[in-house]
Amino acid sequence: ASVNGNLNNVINSRLPKKIQGLLLLIGQKAEKEGYKAYAIGGFARDLILGLQNFDIDIVVENNAIEFAEKLVKYLGGKLKTFPQFGTATLTLKDGNKIDFATARMEFYPFPAAMPEVEETTIKHDLYRRDFTINTLGFKLNSPVFGDFLDFFNGKVDLEKGIIRVLYNLSFVEDPTRILRAIRFESRYGFTIEEQTLGFLTNALENNMLAQVKPKRILEELKLILSEKNGLLSMNRSIELGILEGIFGEISNKKLLIRALEETKVHINLYKKKEIKVDNEFLIYVQVILSFCNEAKQKEFLTGLQLDKSQLEDFDFFFNNYQETLQSLKNPRYFSASEIVETLQGYKKESMIVLLALSFNSTVHKRILLYVKEFSNIDIEVTGEDLKKMGLQPGPVFSDIIKKLRKEKIDNNLSSKEEELLWVRSEYLSQGQKEDF
Ligand code: CTP
Repeated sequence: ASVNGNLNNVINSRLPKKIQGLLLLIGQKAEKEGYKAYAIGGFARDLILGLQNFDIDIVVENNAIEFAEKLVKYLGGKLKTFPQFGTATLTLKDGNKIDFATARMEFYPFPAAMPEVEETTIKHDLYRRDFTINTLGFKLNSPVFGDFLDFFNGKVDLEKGIIRVLYNLSFVEDPTRILRAIRFESRYGFTIEEQTLGFLTNALENNMLAQVKPKRILEELKLILSEKNGLLSMNRSIELGILEGIFGEISNKKLLIRALEETKVHINLYKKKEIKVDNEFLIYVQVILSFCNEAKQKEFLTGLQLDKSQLEDFDFFFNNYQETLQSLKNPRYFSASEIVETLQGYKKESMIVLLALSFNSTVHKRILLYVKEFSNIDIEVTGEDLKKMGLQPGPVFSDIIKKLRKEKIDNNLSSKEEELLWVRSEYLSQGQKEDF
C-alpha cells in the first residue's frame, strides 16, 4: 500500500484488526464529544515504514485528560492522568497502552511563511518535536479517519532516510535530541542531514550536553544500548564528540570502541552459557567510565542511583581494576590460586568489564581461565566436618578453609575424600590421626 492523502489502505493492511477497531472507536468518540484526536509520532512513523510498533500516541485538541476520562468509561481499563503535563495513559484490559497528550501551542520559532490554515494547533504541536520523521500522523475523527498529516515533509525524509530537525535551536532547547538523532540513525540506517548535523555539532561545541542532568543522559544512553544496533550509535557518538560532551575527556577513543565491542561479545558468551547477567546497561557504563577522569566517574555514579551493594561493587571495581590489570600483566608464572586471589573480589558483571578492558593477551587469558575454570571451584568440606575430625572450632577454621581452597585450586583435589585427607594430613596430630 502506498501513502498518500489518506492512510486507510496502510492502516487496513498493516495494523492488527484489534488496533484498527480501537482507533476507529476513539475517532467516533472524539467526533461525538467534540474533540479532535490524532495518531502521531513513532506510531505513525513506524506504520508508514511498515514496522511493528503498537505504542499508540494520540494528541487531542483541546483536552486530552477530559477526553481520556470519557473514553475510559466507554472502553474500560485503567487511566492514569498527569494534570501538570496535560497527559494521560490508558491501560486497556488486554494490557495495551495508549498515551494521550493535549496538543500544545506554546511559543516556538514557527516559520512566518507557513500559511495558517485549519489545523493550527496540531501543526504547532508537531512543529515543536524533534525530527521531521516524527511529525507524521493521521486524523482519527470519524468523518476524516485516516487523513494523513505531513506538514513538514516528514514522509519524504522518511523515504530518503534523513534525520532532520524542524528548527535551528532544536538541539539547544533539548540537548537529549542529540542522542535521539544518533539512535534513530542506527536503528533505521538513516543519516543526519547536513544542516542538522551542523546544528548538532554547534550545540556540542556550546557544551549543551553538560547542561543535562546525568540521570537524563543515562536514560538516553540506556535507550541507545538497548537497540539492536546500539554499538553503532556508540561509535557514532564517539566519532562526533558526543560521548566527550557527556563524559569529558576520554583517555583513548579507539580503545573504548574496542572495549564496548568486547563487552558485547562477552555478555553474549555469558548468555549463551545461560549465565544470568544483571543489568547490561550498567556494564557498558562501567566500561565507559573506565576511560573517564575520576570527577566524571563520581558524577555519573550518583546519576546511576545504584543500590548499596551495586555501589560497593562499583567502588571496589574503580578502586582496584587498574592495579589488577597491571599485576596480571606480569609475565612470571601465576599459580591458579594466585589468579583466584587477584580476581575473587570482583562480581560477575565486573569480570565482563575486566575482560573487555584486558587488551593484553596474557591478562586476557588469565581472566578467562578464572572465569571459565577457577571461579566455580568451591570446597566441599564444612565446619561440621572439621569438628567431627576433632578440631577445635575457632578462627583457625577459616584459615583451614582458605588454605584448603588454595590447595584444591592448585592441586586439583577432586573429591570430598581428597579434601578430608588433605586436612587430616595437615592439621591432625599423630594421635588424632590414629584415632580417626
Ligand atoms: N520528542 C521530542 N523530543 C524529545 C523526545 C521526544 O520532540 N527529546 C517527541 C518525538 O517527536 C516523538 C514523541 O515526542 O515522536 C514521543 O517520544 P518517544 O515516545 O520517546 O518517541 P518515539 O518516536 O516513539 O521513539 P521510540 O520509537 O524510540 O519509542
